[in-house]
Amino acid sequence: MTSMANTHNGKLFIETVGCQMNMLDSELVVGALRKQGYSLTDDPSDADTILFNTCSVREHAEHKIYSALGRLKYSKQARPNQVIGVLGCMAQKDQALVFQRAPHVDLVVGTGQLAEVPQLIEAARSRRERALAVSLDRKEAGRAAVSDSFQSYDPLREPAMRPSPHQAFVRIVIGCDKFCTYCVVPMTRGPEQSRPPRDILQEVKVLADQGVKEVTLLGQTVNSYKHTQDGKLFRLSDLLEHIHGVKGILRLKFVTNFPKDMTDDLLQAVRDLPKCAQYLHVPAQSGCNEMLKRMKRGYTVEDYREMFGRIRSTLPHAAVSSDFIVGFCGETAEAHQKSLNLISECRFKNSFIFKYSPRPGTKAFELYADDVPEDVKKQRNNEMLLLQNQISAEDNAGFIGDEVEVLVEGFSKVQLKKADLGPVSGPSQLTGRTSCDRIVVFDGNPRLAGSLASIEVDDVTPTTLIGHIVTREVQHGSSVLLPILA
Ligand code: SAH
Ligand code: SF4
Ligand code: F3S
Repeated sequence: MTSMANTHNGKLFIETVGCQMNMLDSELVVGALRKQGYSLTDDPSDADTILFNTCSVREHAEHKIYSALGRLKYSKQARPNQVIGVLGCMAQKDQALVFQRAPHVDLVVGTGQLAEVPQLIEAARSRRERALAVSLDRKEAGRAAVSDSFQSYDPLREPAMRPSPHQAFVRIVIGCDKFCTYCVVPMTRGPEQSRPPRDILQEVKVLADQGVKEVTLLGQTVNSYKHTQDGKLFRLSDLLEHIHGVKGILRLKFVTNFPKDMTDDLLQAVRDLPKCAQYLHVPAQSGCNEMLKRMKRGYTVEDYREMFGRIRSTLPHAAVSSDFIVGFCGETAEAHQKSLNLISECRFKNSFIFKYSPRPGTKAFELYADDVPEDVKKQRNNEMLLLQNQISAEDNAGFIGDEVEVLVEGFSKVQLKKADLGPVSGPSQLTGRTSCDRIVVFDGNPRLAGSLASIEVDDVTPTTLIGHIVTREVQHGSSVLLPILA
């Protein structure tokens, strides 16, 4: 990695915060840089290239990155050729403000310009110039021009950056058009655009050839997917049907669903295509109509209930999870209670609960006072978490004694921690997920990763099923099928 004017050690450190879309973007950026000879390091002090892939959805996520940047203030003194880049949603949202707050940053690259990262890094290093590459503001130009400036970046794949070698994300919808009043995503990710089915299918085939068994289709409103190709309209249900045919793929998931776009054709596809996970993430955000209206979610609690009923009748065994915001502007104790009631009624598998964080540039920030005190937000958050945990624990307990089919992911967190402390002997603790997205831990041979295994559940926690591998002899036919044990 040496040229006269452009010397660096080829080591890249990248920190990623935010949603799965960001994890995918980081995988793709790292893939492009590896092609140029870079290698990853987990030690920023050893890296001549430092990237942060950022999130703006809550203030806390931004703080985390600005603090990390603050710690690097003097690091260029030791490494004059170091390049520090801020990528993703906060780059798009804060733009040149990033340079003001962290003058040692060289690059600010939005979600729509990630393809330019390798070239921008080289330019920054050789010319020691700052670069700002972002998309157009949504109010700045017409829809087509703005959409064009948010280029989808879905090139080569980087197996080493995946959560596990057998699992991969595939982007199908870029951006968002829902404009919920609290949310920055329509600004940071741009207009909603569905990628062509042809490209998506091709990508899944490449991944399957690389050994991927589980594909998770991504979109902020993944079920709003719509694309006309060769005169035919493709919805998410059509896409699932096509991907279902790809050899090697064992499981298909998609996140996140928008309640109003949860159509029957999609539910029927999940019912009829056996590779589809029996799992739907459909955030409600609140159980109170006044709050939903202020959030501009476009549905009422009654609408959500109707949709939930259709899920239950078409997919009786599917797990449904949700997101909730507590302490949104004007949320009264009664409004909060209505959210708790919705959780009790729907018995979500799990809920991601967030304290409202006012975001400059959003409608809620402009129109409504952030009038729920922090301690009340905290207390509502804890109360909701407690209720959800109780429901999750009760529902998980119903699995004790059952045999579940699990797609094995690899070592469990406990096992990885043990391995960090030194050599481990005896069987390994593995982790995997059921089709209904429940995490299962059990002892087994690590070679099982990427395959399906039958596990009998012995015990549970609110988040995890704990079990053992079922060893079974096949009754019919000549072969005896025994799972590989450690
Ligand atoms: N597109 C997805 C989620 C996007 S962001 C959807 O519509 O469901 C992930 C979650 O962050 C949201 O579901 C919401 O619960 C939460 N969130 C978004 N903006 C927030 C804010 N300003 N304060 C607190 N939580 C927020
Ligand atoms: Fe944000 Fe709403 Fe779009 Fe989700 S649907 S990304 S919450 S604006
Ligand atoms: Fe955050 Fe951007 Fe995802 S704001 S939640 S990283 S789309």
